[in-house]
Amino acid sequence: MASHQLAGSSLGFRFSGVGSYLPAEIVTNDDLAEAMDSSDHWIRERTGIGQRHVGGTTSELATEAARAAMKRANVGPDEIDQLLLATTSPDYICPGTAPAVAEALGLDCGALDIQAACSGWVYGLVHANGLLLQGMERILVVGAEALDRITDYTDRGTGILFGNGAGAAVVERDPSGEGQLLSFDLGAAGEFVHILYAEHGDVLQMDGKEVFRQAVKAILRSANNALDRADLSVGEIDLVIPHQANIRIVESAWKKLGFSMEQTGMRLEETGNTSAASIPLVLDKMLDEGRLKSGDNVMFLGFGAGMTWATTIHRWAGESR
Ligand code: COA
Repeated sequence: MASHQLAGSSLGFRFSGVGSYLPAEIVTNDDLAEAMDSSDHWIRERTGIGQRHVGGTTSELATEAARAAMKRANVGPDEIDQLLLATTSPDYICPGTAPAVAEALGLDCGALDIQAACSGWVYGLVHANGLLLQGMERILVVGAEALDRITDYTDRGTGILFGNGAGAAVVERDPSGEGQLLSFDLGAAGEFVHILYAEHGDVLQMDGKEVFRQAVKAILRSANNALDRADLSVGEIDLVIPHQANIRIVESAWKKLGFSMEQTGMRLEETGNTSAASIPLVLDKMLDEGRLKSGDNVMFLGFGAGMTWATTIHRWAGESR
């Protein structure tokens, strides 16, 4: 496979603003247990999830998160050169959701959806870097999901996991060269389409055990590839934000990789699995908690339906709160 080590690029890559949004309505595990044979205890123990947010459309949630990110970056709509919207729960099958979000934000630029399930936002960062290399100045990368539209909250195999939310980042060139996309790893394995999918007009279907197994494999492979390409060890990563699917997936993979939970950004208990929105939702919280400073090595690790996976390692520059 081709190498994806980008260290030394004079272009630079900084996160000038990050924002997120969760709709107000919350469904607790106890709420779910009224509609299915389950319990708060079982769901917490097997997944790490305590509640999930529901309500809103993908374009509405995306717009709120993007507004927050643009405000933090202190940029207006005319300063965004491209909108990339990662979602697996678009408002419509056709058209894409990104044009409606661009309209709501007053952008005057290209806008397209990325459908790579839970890896989509990290795929978006890599593609944003490509657009910066082509001469663009500033890209808005959003992950947004209204998964309540494709989740059966009476099915205990899937209904316990998924929720709504959105996260966004304004990324731009960093002429100082301090901020860098150090390496990335993107992958897909279409032989696993049928372990997690939704037909047109239907809800998500999942072989939970197989998804668990394949997710751990994908994480190990992708994290190791990205670390090798950046020539960094696990101990040199200051913060790793994995996709928030199931705490046991993260723990299984971490045992093999050697990451500690202290290095790890999590928000799963509060949000459930928000697919493409999960990593920027955690990133926003990490910034709130002052967990990132310039020069830190940060890893984003997405994996999900497809199967797809995407890992990036950044030397952080941009927002700190
Ligand atoms: N509440 C209570 N009991 C449940 C339950 C629920 N929601 N779901 C399953 N059970 C029961 C089963 O009936 C079974 O009972 P039995 O032993 O008496 O037959 C037992 O719990 C174990 O079921 P199993 O299907 O083996 O559970 P699991 O440990 O695999 O957990 C998932 C199920 C869905 C939580 C787990 O497979 C998972 O999280 N997989 C990954 C899914 C994921 O992350 N998807 C998104 C990827 S991006």
